[in-house]
Amino acid sequence: MKKLLVALLSIGALVTGLAQAELDNPGGVGGLESLRGTTPIEDTRASDNMKKYPREQALDSDFVYQPPLIPHNIRNYEVSLNANKCLSCHSWKNAKQMGATKISVTHFINRQDAVLADVSPRRYFCLQCHVPQADAKPLVENEYESVDSLR
Ligand code: HEC
Ligand code: HEC
Repeated sequence: MKKLLVALLSIGALVTGLAQAELDNPGGVGGLESLRGTTPIEDTRASDNMKKYPREQALDSDFVYQPPLIPHNIRNYEVSLNANKCLSCHSWKNAKQMGATKISVTHFINRQDAVLADVSPRRYFCLQCHVPQADAKPLVENEYESVDSLR
């Protein structure tokens, strides 16, 4: 009986301890801090500054077959069932007039390796692979390096 009481009491103490630790540390137990910083969940955090998308310098690829980064702003460019703003400049039909790079031949190949007459459905949602290059500091530290052949 006494043993059981001691066991129950220590479990109680442990749970209270954990709850206390959580209250003392807005980042959560263990001092983890998410990308939103230490702002508690119930508070609204001030938004980050808008990212700059430098046009003048197009970043090189880091590995072979990397989808090139987008060297321009893409705000309000709709890509949906009804419209694909990207293709209004990058399709083979429009690229020349718009002074944009044509999508490459790979964008016409479907999953069965057949070459289609128009953009393959698996390439329709451009932002699945292409992201704008932004002047931003890395979210987490990393030691990533380009492949030797591209350095
Ligand atoms: C108004 C025309 C226009 C629209 C719309 C547009 N682009 Fe572009 N894009 C360009 C031009 C022009 C370039 C060439 C580089 C430059 O001058 O910025 C370019 C460059 C690129 C490149 C780099 C190509 C390379 O050879 O490295 C990618 C990738 C790209 N755009 C993707 C996109 C995606 C994805 C969208 C839709 C979200 C999009 N673009 C919408 C005009 C456009
Ligand atoms: C499944 C991933 C994927 C999707 C989706 C995709 N791309 Fe690409 N894109 C790539 C890769 C990988 C490359 C580089 C290799 C190549 O040229 O195929 C590339 C290359 C490009 C290039 C440069 C072509 C060149 O000759 O240098 C442009 C421009 C481009 N894509 C535009 C687009 C647009 C616009 C869309 C949407 C309609 C799109 N991409 C959808 C992966 C993708």
